[in-house]
Amino acid sequence: MKVAVFASGTGTNAEALIKAAKTGELGGEVALVVSDKQHAPVLEKARNLGVKAEHLSPQSFSDKAAYEQAILTLLTKEGIDFIVLAGYMRLIGPTLLEAYEGKMINIHPSLLPAFPGLDAIGQALEAKADTTGVTIHYVDAGMDTGPVIAQQQVAIANGETRETLTAKIQAVEHTLYPAVVKQVLNEHVEGEQQ
Ligand code: GAR
Repeated sequence: MKVAVFASGTGTNAEALIKAAKTGELGGEVALVVSDKQHAPVLEKARNLGVKAEHLSPQSFSDKAAYEQAILTLLTKEGIDFIVLAGYMRLIGPTLLEAYEGKMINIHPSLLPAFPGLDAIGQALEAKADTTGVTIHYVDAGMDTGPVIAQQQVAIANGETRETLTAKIQAVEHTLYPAVVKQVLNEHVEGEQQ
């Protein structure tokens, strides 16, 4: 299975996924990284690990459908079977949703449906929650709304800061995401063999 990782920023999850793929722990190959941000550190991280990384700017296209059609052309050219969103801060539209129906998952730093959207970690701290976590879910047209595949809790300690909580959440993400991607890819391979 060939996987494309979509990311807008730092790319610590993309890096964890690429490294897991290289050691055979992902059950698939990360063949492509796509970013909507020209200077996203994830692009260089991926290239340094030998993975093709492409920036496509939404501003260069007339609308979302044209932008996603360009991404789709790239995905088709690279033979991508599955899309993994890892900090891709953009809603997916019908063009990609229809082409990769049931073959696109996302990770979000909260226990959805709590704290969807931007700055989930800040939202949890602001709400003075004592627990938050990580959710991995199938992507649908909504913002962080698709069917949940896996969740893991993270406790928020007294005096927790954004930095300490982010570190705790990222540590969970970097283990949970490769394991769940492996599980989902296996299910798809088995589904196709039946
Ligand atoms: C991750 O914590 C991910 O859960 C979050 O963005 C971060 C990306 O970090 N995604 C969302 O908030 C999606 N709504 P990374 O670039 O270091 O992987």
